[in-house]
Amino acid sequence: MINEKVAELLNNQVNKEFYSAYLYLEFSNYYNEQGLDGFANWYKIQAQEERDHALLFMEYMQNNDVKVTLEAIDKPDVELKDNMAPLKAGLEHERFVTALINNIYEAAYVEKDFRTMQFLDWFVKEQGEEETNASDLVKKMELYGSDPKGLYLLDSELGGGTYSAPSLTL
Ligand code: FEO
Repeated sequence: MINEKVAELLNNQVNKEFYSAYLYLEFSNYYNEQGLDGFANWYKIQAQEERDHALLFMEYMQNNDVKVTLEAIDKPDVELKDNMAPLKAGLEHERFVTALINNIYEAAYVEKDFRTMQFLDWFVKEQGEEETNASDLVKKMELYGSDPKGLYLLDSELGGGTYSAPSLTL
């Protein structure tokens, strides 16, 4: 049996992961409007990954007889004033999600819910990778973003990214 508090946090995370997908689609749309198709592609892939995260949380809950309650997804709350803004907002958002995952982990730890801790291990690692990717992108933009050729090459690099489903099995 999964503890009520842990179950509530898991359910909340489903919403947060869908919100992440929504936020990244907002970023993708922004870059699409700017003609930066590579950046748009990058965030579309991120959105697909976030949707998959939401589905993994749902599946885990269902496998453990926890009811999933879908709540309304908030409107993306960001002001995208230039090409750097989504990248910085993305990094900040990933740090926020890491804190949410850590919070669930802590609740599971307190309850000696080892199964949930093991499930969350994958997300702890994933968040580390996502923060690194987001941070690297901010650095690259700082270095090359103000030069049109640099921006073109960065956009081309991001355009080559492809989506692959998470390697987590439940
Ligand atoms: Fe699924 Fe990067 O949060």
